[in-house]
Amino acid sequence: MTRHRALMVGAGGMAGRWVKAFLPLHADRVEIVGLVDVNATTLNDTADAIGLARKRRFTSIPSAFDSVSDAECCLIAVPPQFHEDAAVRAAERGWAVLSEKPMADSWDACGRIYRAATRAGIKMQVMQNYRYIAATWTLRDVLRSGELGRINYVMARFAADYREWLSWGAEFRHTMQHALLLEGAVHHFDMIRNLTGGDCQRIAGWEWNPAWSSSKGQFNNLYVLNMSNGVHAVYEGHGTAGGEQNTWHEEQYRVECETGAVTVGRDKIVRIHQFRRGGGLSTREVPLLKPAHPGHSAVKDQGHGAVMGQFFDWLDGGPAPETTIQDNVKSVAIVFAAIEASRTSQSVDVAAMVERAASDA
Ligand SMILES: NC(=O)c1ccc[n+]([C@@H]2O[C@H](COP(=O)([O-])OP(=O)(O)OC[C@H]3O[C@@H](n4cnc5c(N)ncnc54)[C@H](O)[C@@H]3O)[C@@H](O)[C@H]2O)c1
Repeated sequence: MTRHRALMVGAGGMAGRWVKAFLPLHADRVEIVGLVDVNATTLNDTADAIGLARKRRFTSIPSAFDSVSDAECCLIAVPPQFHEDAAVRAAERGWAVLSEKPMADSWDACGRIYRAATRAGIKMQVMQNYRYIAATWTLRDVLRSGELGRINYVMARFAADYREWLSWGAEFRHTMQHALLLEGAVHHFDMIRNLTGGDCQRIAGWEWNPAWSSSKGQFNNLYVLNMSNGVHAVYEGHGTAGGEQNTWHEEQYRVECETGAVTVGRDKIVRIHQFRRGGGLSTREVPLLKPAHPGHSAVKDQGHGAVMGQFFDWLDGGPAPETTIQDNVKSVAIVFAAIEASRTSQSVDVAAMVERAASDA
């Protein structure tokens, strides 16, 4: 099997986990031939861990692209405001890209990445690891099986106690504007599309930061989404949660369907609830399924490992994954529409935003 030569952008934080934990799951399929991080200590620590030659270590994205000529793909896991620089340079060289979410930190930057990738005809995929964990995979399977009839609406809740400064991992999350939408809701909006099988048509609602938050950007979201297939959704994003937690991997989804409802939450157990007049409410647990992607090689891991496997399969001529840039633009558009909806106190036409971004390409 070919080992794909990759320029890895980022060496610490999530990028450190890519290099040391997730990419090694695919060690027979990928080789890092260049590594970039603005923090020289982090860069050298991670490069030493994988035995990367000194001349293949870089402290800026431009210098890495100027020096590395033998890569064929680019892996991006730096903060969102630096995704564009790396993704556009990779597209200009015809390299495939696998990037962390969100695609970029502004809608204009997303458009530029989308157009650069489309014009160059490169394969680009965005990391949406939460589609490939057992609980959400099983939830989606129940919905797609049709067992509960048509989907009516989704209630989605993310709640984490990030009231303390730096409690949300990296500092940029506590200083950036629209923090919960860009760093959190981008996963949950993508999940609403994943579960409902529809795209968001319009969104309305608000983001805000409560007076007692120690962060600079907005840490709270309440939104209503109107999907293309008639399904509705409500999103509660709570980054200052002092009560019940529904943090990463423990998000609460309740999907109301024609003949019952299906739920998952903090205990990661998927449950089907059905009420029958005269018979009352019955609730049963659904055995968890292992995520798999039809046509792709065996999933070595859930989440990140699974998405990486899909990417390398795609490069090897396998089927396109679900979260290509052409698909993911419809998830990230919801984030920027949500920002606009809050700013204007108006509902925003998400479908028109996506159409404009695509028609410019
Ligand atoms: N999919 C997930 O579950 C998940 C989870 C956490 C983070 N992320 C994503 O990963 C990305 C990175 O987040 P993080 O928490 O690791 O951030 P971070 O602040 O920890 O930064 C990661 C690394 O990037 C380096 N870096 C910063 N600016 C750089 C630049 N201009 N050029 C090169 N290196 C640079 C930093 O020094 C650091 O080592 C973000 O897009 C974030 O949304 C995804």
